[in-house]
Amino acid sequence: MFTSMAPLPLLLFFLLSLLASSSSAAYNVSYDTRSLIIDGQRKLLISAAIHYPRSVPAMWPGLVQLAKEGGVDVIETYVFWNGHELSPNNYYFGGRYDLVKFCKIVQQAGMYLILRIGPFVAAEWNFGGVPVWLHYVPGTVFRTDNEPFKYYMKKFTTLIVSMMKKEKLFASQGGPIILAQVENEYGFYESAYGEGGKRYTMWAANMAVSQNTGVPWIMCQQFDPPDTVIDTCNSFYCDHFKPISPNKPKLWTENWPGWFKTFGASDPHRPPEDVAFSVARFFHKGGSLQNYYMYHGGTNFGRTSGGPFITTSYDYDAPIDEYGLARCPKWGHLKELHRSIKLCEHALLNGKPISLSLGPSQEADFYEDSSGACAAFISNMDEKNDKMVVFRNTSYFLPAWSVSILPDCKNVVFNTAKVGSQTSVVEMVPTDLQPSTTALNKDLNGLQWNVFKEKAGIWAAADLTKNSLVDHINTTKDTTDYLWYTTSFLVDGTEEFLKNSTSPMLVVESKGHAMHVFINQKLQGSGSGNGTVSPFKFRCPISLKAGKNEIALLSMTVGLQNAGAFYEWVGAGPTSVRILGMRNGTVDLSTSRWTYKIGLQGEHLKIYDTNGLNSVSWVSTAEPPKHQPLTWYKAVVDSPPGKDPVGLDMIHMGKGLAWLNGNEIGRYWPRKASKHEKCVQKCDYRGKFMPNKCNTGCGEPTQRWYHVPRSWFKPSGNTLVIFEEKGGDPTKILLSTRKVSSVCAHISEDHPSFDFEHLQESAVGDYRKKASISLKCPAGTRISGVKFASFGDPAGTCGSYAVGECHDPNSVSMVEKVCLNQNDCKLEITKENFNMKLCPSLVKRLAVEVACS
Ligand SMILES: *[C@@H]1O[C@H](CO)[C@@H](O)[C@H](O)[C@H]1NC(C)=O
Ligand SMILES: *[C@@H]1O[C@H](CO)[C@@H](O)[C@H](O)[C@H]1NC(C)=O
Ligand SMILES: *[C@@H]1O[C@H](CO)[C@@H](O)[C@H](O)[C@H]1NC(C)=O
Ligand SMILES: *[C@@H]1O[C@H](CO)[C@@H](O)[C@H](O)[C@H]1NC(C)=O
Ligand SMILES: *[C@@H]1O[C@H](CO)[C@@H](O)[C@H](O)[C@H]1NC(C)=O
Ligand SMILES: *[C@@H]1O[C@H](CO)[C@@H](O)[C@H](O)[C@H]1NC(C)=O
Repeated sequence: MFTSMAPLPLLLFFLLSLLASSSSAAYNVSYDTRSLIIDGQRKLLISAAIHYPRSVPAMWPGLVQLAKEGGVDVIETYVFWNGHELSPNNYYFGGRYDLVKFCKIVQQAGMYLILRIGPFVAAEWNFGGVPVWLHYVPGTVFRTDNEPFKYYMKKFTTLIVSMMKKEKLFASQGGPIILAQVENEYGFYESAYGEGGKRYTMWAANMAVSQNTGVPWIMCQQFDPPDTVIDTCNSFYCDHFKPISPNKPKLWTENWPGWFKTFGASDPHRPPEDVAFSVARFFHKGGSLQNYYMYHGGTNFGRTSGGPFITTSYDYDAPIDEYGLARCPKWGHLKELHRSIKLCEHALLNGKPISLSLGPSQEADFYEDSSGACAAFISNMDEKNDKMVVFRNTSYFLPAWSVSILPDCKNVVFNTAKVGSQTSVVEMVPTDLQPSTTALNKDLNGLQWNVFKEKAGIWAAADLTKNSLVDHINTTKDTTDYLWYTTSFLVDGTEEFLKNSTSPMLVVESKGHAMHVFINQKLQGSGSGNGTVSPFKFRCPISLKAGKNEIALLSMTVGLQNAGAFYEWVGAGPTSVRILGMRNGTVDLSTSRWTYKIGLQGEHLKIYDTNGLNSVSWVSTAEPPKHQPLTWYKAVVDSPPGKDPVGLDMIHMGKGLAWLNGNEIGRYWPRKASKHEKCVQKCDYRGKFMPNKCNTGCGEPTQRWYHVPRSWFKPSGNTLVIFEEKGGDPTKILLSTRKVSSVCAHISEDHPSFDFEHLQESAVGDYRKKASISLKCPAGTRISGVKFASFGDPAGTCGSYAVGECHDPNSVSMVEKVCLNQNDCKLEITKENFNMKLCPSLVKRLAVEVACS
């Protein structure tokens, strides 16, 4: 080889050849009816959606690594057109929108990438990802055979493809991208566009294919694609999906492991047993690539959320939570599932499937390849009853609504309903805002607030005046959430209500999304729609004085429509404003003279940003005014101690926007879900999942905490700016840190356990082991105490376990002996560790909860 004394040219040559070998050679992605074929090899692929602008670059490597550790082979992302093309030809690819950097992080992790360019993406993202300016290019109709739309769509698609090609990111160039997507879920809407819709589908597919990327193109939820692209499935279950053409593989682009939230609604959860069931069923029935949408949902920072009413959090109940922590047991259960499916890969992809019925709702599919390798999936689709089934002369117990995986057609290594991996208990630990140690006013005890009060109504020259109510979105063009509608109204001094102390009633009808009513600078009331019904009608008693009254309506959007036929034409803002209870009856103000102002003064002056901070006169005080509408608050704070992720606790605030050091945290609105929605204490995983099946949080704020990425903080001197619309108590704002406080595991002594590290498809049985639990606290913490341990028949769930009738009294000391002060530990159910003779008629279980600190 060479020594450190090697002559320079030789060293250079060595370095160059190292470089050459690290940028891998081109590989060929093709497919047939069974699977994608990469460089001649069939592939069974697990994919995970992580959207780059929904986290920050500092989080990307960790998220990708955690996905890889979870058994994921492929990262999938949309491309977010309106984040990149801010106005025609004005592009942005920095910060959270650094697409190339994201792709390279995936490549460096040795993973593949699916690039869903769209560029219409839906995605609960503002305006479905299409720039709002395009709606105002004359003659444009989105997503149909329309020249301006096609022109801009092709231009952007070509730009992205060229950028990827330039960076050699397609597989055909040695890069990670194995598939690209054009359009998105157009199938259900195509017919609304008539013949133009059909022509558009063909055009989009041809436009994509003509980009010559060297990798296949997909169209998801597309029911009449040309043969040049692959149609794929999006749903909670895709086991029964069949691509239109028999030469296409069965690919699942969106398996929803949870669901998104809307402000004012409860919080959906999909149980891990059912997610695993759907995935196992898919591979059972011939699927070969499955993508979790989302694997990490992240955050809709700033005003990027769609809707209307999609929350700033896009957590999605995904395997990695909004803050970047593994959500357990979902993450771990799916990791074990992926490992088990991968053991079957060769037989599954190369064997011929044989389907067997094992009962009325029980079936098996087994795959035997030419080498004799055999893999089987057996399932029980009964929603209520567990079943014993016989498969190849052996009896198997199948819990209701579950799939067992047998990589050798004999031994069950995994059952989707048996969760053996650990559960984490996660807490938001409150910390008060710490006055900045570098602030000039550090000698003043306590936190100093700076306050700026926004005027209700026209705060500078008006933007327009009209004798009618204009459409909100057409007026702001989404440059801001806010639009002031102002008018004045004369009250005759002889009006009866002035004397008899009753209040006239203001009645507003609006297309959406929300509104505050100010009269003579005083807040009178607020109204809003919700994620189910965006238009709203509201009435509130108002106080009017004799003479001229100023009426100022602050109309707000809360994320623009992101999907549906002709969605770009859905408007917002008031359509009718009336006053009831005047002597003359009802006064209709809808055709009065209305004067408009787009946005807020503080937004216009960018007082949340370093450059604009000092463009208004802030009033400094240790006791900021509380419950005041239209108020800006500013404080300079220290970073919360430690490294745990941070969430801004806004439960005591009303509604508004927040920034840290000029970075947009986003919209906050701790709006409560109704007490009367359907919520569950415990989720029954059995049976078909629907988004409203397993909700929590009835009567609680949909979103209380707002993610502030660690990388946005400096150790000290951080400027936090809040704009509060209707009134709150800023002194109660906290920066909470997200911590795993304890972890639990609960398994039965017959839990399928194998030495996966050494397991081969052919001899699974040889690697059978005693059932065991593994516990792991987050990096940098230790198991500091055993909160509960019982071998026997413990009851309850993580956080509330209780000893049952059968209990080995040495359980706690055993767990302490093995686990205490370790970062992780593993405990086998053996006679050395536990009293196996206890209650011999029972299949015993071990439940453990340990504290992490
Ligand atoms: C890629 O593989 C397919 C199927 O094996 C083959 O038909 C095709 O010619 C290959 N393409 C290239 C560029 O090697
Ligand atoms: C949304 O508003 C409508 C109309 O007021 C109401 O019927 C519905 O229950 C609301 N939905 C939720 C989730 O609050
Ligand atoms: C099942 O048992 C029958 C009868 O004993 C035998 O003929 C058959 O080969 C067995 N099948 C398998 C897969 O072991
Ligand atoms: C007060 O005056 C209003 C307006 O004329 C009238 O509609 C209302 O009935 C009166 N209320 C009472 C309590 O007299
Ligand atoms: C917005 O303006 C356009 C062009 O004037 C008009 O066609 C459209 O109907 C308006 N939208 C709404 C929701 O009023
Ligand atoms: C009420 O109606 C009378 C008679 O039509 C009219 O003279 C007066 O201006 C109206 N007052 C208001 C406040 O509209």
